[in-house]
Amino acid sequence: MEPFAGLSCPDPKLADALDYLAQHPGKQLRSRLTVASADLVAGVSVSAAVMAGEAIELLHTYSLVHDDLPAMDDDDLRRGQPTLHCAFDEATAILAGDGLQAAAFQRLTEIEALSAEQRLDMIGVVSKAVGFHGMVGGQALDLAAEHQAVPANALRDIHSLKTGALISAAAEVGAICGGATRSQRDALVRFATAIGLAFQVTDDVLDVTGDSTSLGKTAGKDERAEKSTYVSTLGLEGAQQEADTLLKEALHALAEFGEAAEPLRALARKMVHRDT
Ligand code: IPE
Ligand code: IPE
Ligand code: MG
Ligand code: MG
Ligand code: MG
Repeated sequence: MEPFAGLSCPDPKLADALDYLAQHPGKQLRSRLTVASADLVAGVSVSAAVMAGEAIELLHTYSLVHDDLPAMDDDDLRRGQPTLHCAFDEATAILAGDGLQAAAFQRLTEIEALSAEQRLDMIGVVSKAVGFHGMVGGQALDLAAEHQAVPANALRDIHSLKTGALISAAAEVGAICGGATRSQRDALVRFATAIGLAFQVTDDVLDVTGDSTSLGKTAGKDERAEKSTYVSTLGLEGAQQEADTLLKEALHALAEFGEAAEPLRALARKMVHRDT
């Protein structure tokens, strides 16, 4: 998986920024989810699922670059390195994020092993997941929820949108690549919706239990910024229990796939029980 391969820009500073991002691509769990979901449903062209997974990683990386900006979470450490706006400048980080988003959709259009209908289907799913009723809407609600107590159901909506939507889309594009039946696709979306929310709950937990070196980002940031998180709402143990409940819910959604879903189950456990 090389999400950044082939990306270039006529502006030398922005091109350097892309190289900088390429050097630390992150855990790439979302693209693994795409490939594992595609593998589960049929004899898919592996290269198609890999390209779709790369598109998801480009979107995810864009979301982190913008999430770290001073106007948003104002973070200076990401993937063990200075954040992009610290290593370069804010304009470069804004433009890099914008360009990554466009590059992601371009990559989806270029998956030659898939039909035009499949590519359009993926673009529809992904654009909804990152738009106003997906990640962007969730990020706006997340910022609006700072410095106040938010009820658990509202927090669930925020986390599902800001993080869960893209993770759910990662699995759904895998299902599309694999030519899933409607019922297979629905089951994978149910699975990934639960795992996507659990992923953000675990992120909230790790902000409290982890250290900056192993996380590669500043630990303890949520409390200092008075973010509404699963830990601030349910307490540390409550949040950990909620992540486990969501993991069980996710695994339950895979029941119809039997043994064949073992790789996906292992990935789901890793997404929830991780320390980085
Ligand atoms: C961090 O995502 C941001 C969230 C949505 C919680 P990851 O933990 O997947 O970050 P990378 O890609 O490995 O850096
Ligand atoms: C990130 O949530 C959500 C998106 C980037 C869409 P956080 O703000 O909790 O992610 P980290 O902790 O900075 O990685
Ligand atoms: Mg944030
Ligand atoms: Mg953040
Ligand atoms: Mg976080």
